Amino acid sequence: MTSNSCFKIGFILGLVFVCTNAQEKVFNVHSYGAKADGMTDDSKAILNGWRDACKWNGKATLLIPLGEYMVNGAIFKGPCNGSAMTFEMKGVIKAPTDPKIFCNEYWIRFQYMNGLKIKGHGTFDGQGACAWGKHQCATPLPFTVGFYFIKNLIVHDIHSNNSKGVHINVFNCTNGFFRHVKITAPDDSPNTDGIRIGYSNNIHIVDSNIGTGDDCISMVAGSQSINISGVTCGPGHGISIGSLGKLSKNDVVKDIHTKNCTFINTQNGVRIKTWASSMTGMATNITFEDIIMIKVSNPILIDQQYCPTGNCKKQGSSVQVKEVTYKNIRGSSSSKVAVIFDCSDSHPCNGIIVKDINLVYNERDGPATSSACENAIGKATGIELPPNCLKKS
Ligand SMILES: *[C@@H]1O[C@H](CO)[C@@H](O)[C@H](O)[C@H]1NC(C)=O
Ligand SMILES: *[C@@H]1O[C@H](CO)[C@@H](O)[C@H](O)[C@H]1NC(C)=O
Ligand SMILES: *[C@@H]1O[C@H](CO)[C@@H](O)[C@H](O)[C@H]1NC(C)=O
Ligand SMILES: *[C@@H]1O[C@H](CO)[C@@H](O)[C@H](O)[C@H]1NC(C)=O
Ligand SMILES: *[C@@H]1O[C@H](CO)[C@@H](O)[C@H](O)[C@H]1NC(C)=O
Ligand SMILES: *[C@@H]1O[C@H](CO)[C@@H](O)[C@H](O)[C@H]1NC(C)=O
Repeated sequence: MTSNSCFKIGFILGLVFVCTNAQEKVFNVHSYGAKADGMTDDSKAILNGWRDACKWNGKATLLIPLGEYMVNGAIFKGPCNGSAMTFEMKGVIKAPTDPKIFCNEYWIRFQYMNGLKIKGHGTFDGQGACAWGKHQCATPLPFTVGFYFIKNLIVHDIHSNNSKGVHINVFNCTNGFFRHVKITAPDDSPNTDGIRIGYSNNIHIVDSNIGTGDDCISMVAGSQSINISGVTCGPGHGISIGSLGKLSKNDVVKDIHTKNCTFINTQNGVRIKTWASSMTGMATNITFEDIIMIKVSNPILIDQQYCPTGNCKKQGSSVQVKEVTYKNIRGSSSSKVAVIFDCSDSHPCNGIIVKDINLVYNERDGPATSSACENAIGKATGIELPPNCLKKS
């Protein structure tokens, strides 16, 4: 019974009684021997605290008080006995700098849970500077936090600084809510996506600030019903869908709504990228609206010849991009071609709607911006700066 329902019963009966709520319990990592000296590996203490919290048959909070906790690596596993777990992080959790861990997939991971809340104004400090550009494995550098197979996830008032690889990886999660998340890393830190989402649905990212070396948010295969609003992105590579269609067939991303976001000095604004490959797939029902661009290199971009490795066959992508709406996008572009729809000849983009685009060029040689279209079908209404180049259907 929660304190709330106790209160209601007390009210209905007209009785005054104190409701002791034996079901809520706080597990403080200090009781498990965490040193919080920033040097001793506190992984074991924190995991032991988690083990007990997870066994608790009610609401459990694992508390990480102020302080600096060195954590070499941790998997927080469920399922837990109680209804919901809270990871209350007030302190800083610091990653190791030992090159031996550079080939690991992750640093910290939460998995197999229904009901997880992470909060507390604490920081995950990935100490990435020691690793960027220095790892010697085929796999990417470890991500800072991974959420795997979690239902009903809430993350708020949390900071991730200098991840080695991706900051936050969301995989196979349902109902996720990120608010007041701060993500920081230098603009030249490689592959440090802010929040990467894959095989997940109903994920909300609101009122957050992301500045990093790669995509602020990336939505890869299996991302569905994603709602992004009130996000400030920069530095970084923008908000991206994809890349899709590299190695697997039928990568799908759909029902994406990005609203009221600001991009500052980013390489891209809103981008959809699919590989120049014969792998099929689809990106559909995607809306970007009420967006401000400040000195963004490619504010609006669909790239269906994506091939950063440079060794793709010369071919259009086989991923179908359709029903994409761009509405009320304004501000400045630091390249003249502010809008690029570079779509596939075998699978042209369909149903592109462009409404009220007002992007000015922020360099000296003239205010006019332009668009470039290849195999892009759709229609434009309202303000057209730059003038659109879509083919009418
Ligand atoms: C946790 O749940 C399992 C399975 O329902 C049960 O056997 C066990 O006693 C529970 N543990 C605690 C500490 O309540
Ligand atoms: C991130 O970590 C670096 C290195 O420790 C530090 O200099 C910087 O102030 C931190 N950034 C933020 C925003 O906390
Ligand atoms: C996601 O998790 C569900 C349930 O565990 C599983 O059935 C499904 O195959 C998973 N999908 C992927 C892509 O891992
Ligand atoms: C997306 O999030 C915004 C801000 O929280 C909210 O106003 C809007 O209703 C959400 N949209 C959907 C489809 O959930
Ligand atoms: C738009 O986003 C900003 C944060 O960048 C937030 O403060 C503001 O409330 C949002 N406005 C609406 C209408 O959601
Ligand atoms: C498109 O996506 C939105 C969420 O962004 C959803 O509310 C809507 O139902 C979807 N439309 C279709 C036709 O699936």
